[in-house]
Amino acid sequence: MCGIVGYVGNRDCTKILLSGLEKLEYRGYDSAGLALIDKNNNIILKKAVGKLENLKKEFIDFNIYCSTGIGHTRWATHGKPSVINAHPHLDSKERFVLVHNGIIENYSEIKEELIQKGHLFHSDTDTEVIVHLFEDKYNGDILEAVKETINIIDGSYAFAIIDKENPDMLIAARHGAPLIAGENENERFVASDVPAILAHTRKIYFLDEMEIVLLKKDSMEFFNFEGKKIEKVHNNINWDPLMAEKSGYDHFMLKEIYEQPKAIRETLFSKLEKDVFNIKDLNLDNIHPDNLRKINMVACGTSYHSCLVGKFVFEKTLRIPVDVDYASEFRYRDPVIDKNSVVILVSQSGETADTLEAMRIAKKRGAYTIAVVNVFGSTMAREADGVIYTVAGPEIGVASTKAFTSQLMTMYCLSAYLSEKMGIAVNTSSVIKTLKTISPMIETVLDNLDIYKEIASKYYKATDFLYLGRGINYPVALEGALKLKEISYIHAEGYPAGEMKHGPIALIENEVPSVFIINKSSLYKKVLSNLQEIRARDGIIISIATQGDENIAKYSDDVIYIPDVDEFYSPLLTVIPTQLIAYFIAKKRGCDIDKPRNLAKSVTVE
Ligand code: F6R
Repeated sequence: MCGIVGYVGNRDCTKILLSGLEKLEYRGYDSAGLALIDKNNNIILKKAVGKLENLKKEFIDFNIYCSTGIGHTRWATHGKPSVINAHPHLDSKERFVLVHNGIIENYSEIKEELIQKGHLFHSDTDTEVIVHLFEDKYNGDILEAVKETINIIDGSYAFAIIDKENPDMLIAARHGAPLIAGENENERFVASDVPAILAHTRKIYFLDEMEIVLLKKDSMEFFNFEGKKIEKVHNNINWDPLMAEKSGYDHFMLKEIYEQPKAIRETLFSKLEKDVFNIKDLNLDNIHPDNLRKINMVACGTSYHSCLVGKFVFEKTLRIPVDVDYASEFRYRDPVIDKNSVVILVSQSGETADTLEAMRIAKKRGAYTIAVVNVFGSTMAREADGVIYTVAGPEIGVASTKAFTSQLMTMYCLSAYLSEKMGIAVNTSSVIKTLKTISPMIETVLDNLDIYKEIASKYYKATDFLYLGRGINYPVALEGALKLKEISYIHAEGYPAGEMKHGPIALIENEVPSVFIINKSSLYKKVLSNLQEIRARDGIIISIATQGDENIAKYSDDVIYIPDVDEFYSPLLTVIPTQLIAYFIAKKRGCDIDKPRNLAKSVTVE
């Protein structure tokens, strides 16, 4: 939540920072702000409530050369969205200016003390105390002042500070929120995430927990929280900057839906070597097959739904039990985890606070942790015992799509790979063969959008939707409902179709559409009976069915067909129509699809 970006260098940086913020807007869009230092060492501060475009308006006729600056896009935690609460924040003497991502838990005590000392606060934020505290501690040595400040503040943060008296410098620190630094000749950057600076450099340093970076236009130094200098090695990022652009699509979400064939193909191929599964970075030698008596899977939101599919996949392939938890529950429920446990954490961003903390708890108890993440170098990727990357490329749309299908692909690969290691008789070459057919099948589902536009026109005014599925497609029903509610603001519930008669069927009336995932499967007849129960109560039926199932049209108001695929792999296909239904309904309702209200892509606060 919240995105920060900073620049020190030879170039005029206003546009660099604004375009960096554009790439970070997925992290929050309640307000945005920029602080720049001009040639005369004046701080220029501009802020605006709402989306970044409002801030951009403030810069329409702006032509003052500034080569140092910081920017922020906010997801409000303390203090409602307003210009006063927008970052950057100044100290009392208006010398230092700061942006922050995270939460300062002890801010009110610190604020009290500083007020006693004569500091004047303007905002309701927790953030403002950092810059005032920094001012209080500053005694001519910028690193010393940061050290003293972080000794006092509690909570999670990544912050960056610039100083008008030392205009060619920027200092930033990380504790519990992501921070990266990048460099080019004669210019240096910091940001919350790689896409913010990808257009300028691919030479990226990932700050670890409790590290500080001091940037000057021609140097970059790293320190730990004790102020001891540390050496860090950079990573060369191979993401193409174009991947973080809309490339002619109306929304990132639609672009990312269309990128799924490529994302799952690349994810699959990254796990193969000469057509045999080989998952590098997993450090599997550290897991004794005997330890694989049970798997725990932990995640949030869409990634949690992919774990629910993963449960089916691992249990069927490995015949060992799998427990799936919401990270926010797992971390507080004293889970039964020990050194014999294998815990798989799934996260697109690799930064979700609850999942990260769940991982740390599992590690503390001696479990072997495996992170399935999309963002290279993210905190989970670096802290887990083993890591498996989904190769989806940057996912910018707040509603997760290609990350989900890439996570599913990873589960299929991992389960087959583990089966080999455990000596379980699974025909992995046939698994690979089938997995290779999925990508072209998704392309056929994406071929014709008319049906989704028609469904959107018919039902966009509905106030409630149900999504129903069974077996391995029950998690897809949950995911379909989540997608619709988060981007269209229509109330939607996902349910196992067989559970309807135990309560939710009371909701059915003639204006409530039910989306049935009724592809060819061992439970087809059971799902059909559930569908009939809804139909008998005048409910509207939208079926996601298998090509060739002409029969289903008789019982449905609308049918979307997917190619014929083994039910075990079908979630990779059945989820695509649910994404498109949500997308076109949200579009018809005029919703801001890539930036749904109240949300942020990377939930780095608890
Ligand atoms: C929904 C969505 C969220 C995320 C959740 C976890 O479309 O994107 O529910 O799935 O916040 O995020 P990650 O996967 O980054 O841990």
